[in-house]
Amino acid sequence: LSTIRSICCIGAGYVGGPTMAVIADRCPDVQVTVVDLSAERIAAWNSADLSRLPVYEPGLDAVVGRARGRNLHFSTAVEEAIAAADLVFISVNTPTKTKGLGAGQASDLKWVEASARTVAKAAQGHTIVVEKSTLPVRTAEVIQQILSASEGSGVSETQPAKSFSVLSNPEFLAEGTAIADLEKPDRVLIGGQDPEAIEALAAIYGHWVAPQKILRTNLWSSELSKLTANAFLAQRISSINSIAAFCEATGANVREVARAIGADSRIGEKFLQAGPGFGGSCFKKDILNLVYLCRHYGLEEVAAYWEQVVTLNHWQQQRIARLVISNLFGTVSGKRIGVLGFAFKADTNDTRESPAIRICRELLEEGAVLQIVDPKVSESQMAKDLGQPAGAGEGDGDGSWQRVPEVLQAASGADALLLLTEWQQFAVIDWPAVAAVMRQPAWLFDARAKADGALARAAGLQVWTVGEG
Ligand code: NAD
Ligand code: UDX
Repeated sequence: LSTIRSICCIGAGYVGGPTMAVIADRCPDVQVTVVDLSAERIAAWNSADLSRLPVYEPGLDAVVGRARGRNLHFSTAVEEAIAAADLVFISVNTPTKTKGLGAGQASDLKWVEASARTVAKAAQGHTIVVEKSTLPVRTAEVIQQILSASEGSGVSETQPAKSFSVLSNPEFLAEGTAIADLEKPDRVLIGGQDPEAIEALAAIYGHWVAPQKILRTNLWSSELSKLTANAFLAQRISSINSIAAFCEATGANVREVARAIGADSRIGEKFLQAGPGFGGSCFKKDILNLVYLCRHYGLEEVAAYWEQVVTLNHWQQQRIARLVISNLFGTVSGKRIGVLGFAFKADTNDTRESPAIRICRELLEEGAVLQIVDPKVSESQMAKDLGQPAGAGEGDGDGSWQRVPEVLQAASGADALLLLTEWQQFAVIDWPAVAAVMRQPAWLFDARAKADGALARAAGLQVWTVGEG
């Protein structure tokens, strides 16, 4: 059995960084080098101040602090790290294509293909190549073809002949809980055809994951399981959000309904929180990719079935923006609205596909003046997402926004507070103090059911809570 001594991970992002940090932490005898084309990202991973890592995840700083410099390295020397590695993870971005064939649905594989070509060129001897990125089913075939073209080359005194084994090892971590998910995974999935390569990778995880949690499948099942898991998870959110709207219309309460159905062990209690719609870099992209692949294989009804999960999610986001406007007498032009939370979920600085983006953009379009507070999202990130710089347009009827440090500033002069991310600090707001600085009559729109609605009401606010009739 080949033993892995040296790992290279291409892509130092939300997956590559934390995943490799945990592998290095748990496997002190393995050298792990995370490489990226972005010198800025690598510099941030190497920053002496662990609070400045490019990814915010609870517990990540401690793990990086233990392993970095010992057997965890961050570098821009991509080819060098590949050459030294027995095993290469490909953990690059696979966003939805924005143009060309399949635009808006298919995954853009150009970064994966570029990585495979670099591996083909730079690898030495036998190299196990692992798909860590989420990929369309049968991508391993493409990677294998690119690698095969260079197999057998490189024979010399210093360079043994190249050969490759391709594995699929999708990542199931969720942002905000990445370290806990990696340290105690529900399962690790390894798909492949080469038993020796599968066992070599399984041995890495075997350092800390119980053997019965390491599942082995064929390549295509592994690739498809990742898309399917995300489709099922997202479907639960669209399902509960659809029922939330129905609860609001009928006087039921979605949290009571969720508790009642979640007690059925076949349904389970997790992932039933109604909210402003799912965000994050994965759910929408992966479902659209599934939809695209189904259509490619002529499965129109299957494609339409899953597409509806995304349609409902858009509707939920739009519905929330519109009910804010309609409750503020049909116009928000020139009105201050405090936005509580901008990240797509709590405990992350990631804003990719955050419901806050669509909702804030819609309010800006209507001329609102937004005062946004989020403990981890920077002003420059908000500016990128909202498509306009902070402060611009104020007073002339055009929408404008600014980032403020605290809830109290977000509330200052505002007609409404709109809670969009479930940060813990929003559960403990001093409502009398907040109500005192708002313009009356004032509203709290709580799209996460996170705030203490009773206290807000007692302080004189009108309160709308998602899913509460
Ligand atoms: P990311 O954008 O945060 O990171 C990807 C990194 O890859 C970037 O820093 C980019 O510069 C780098 N990169 C791209 N091409 C490169 C190349 N040729 N050489 C070197 N570096 C290169 O993305 P992410 O969120 O880490 O996601 C990576 C993959 O993992 C995606 O396929 C995603 O679907 C999947 N995934 C993500 C999550 C999540 O929670 N974010 C969870 C599970 C799976
Ligand atoms: C998801 C998957 O959970 C993870 O397994 C996969 O590897 C990557 O995609 P992530 O997007 O990081 O992880 O976070 P997740 O916790 O799944 O939340 C996704 C979105 O759904 C967030 O916007 C979150 O707020 C929302 N959500 C989640 C709800 O609205 N209600 C819920 O009950 C759960």
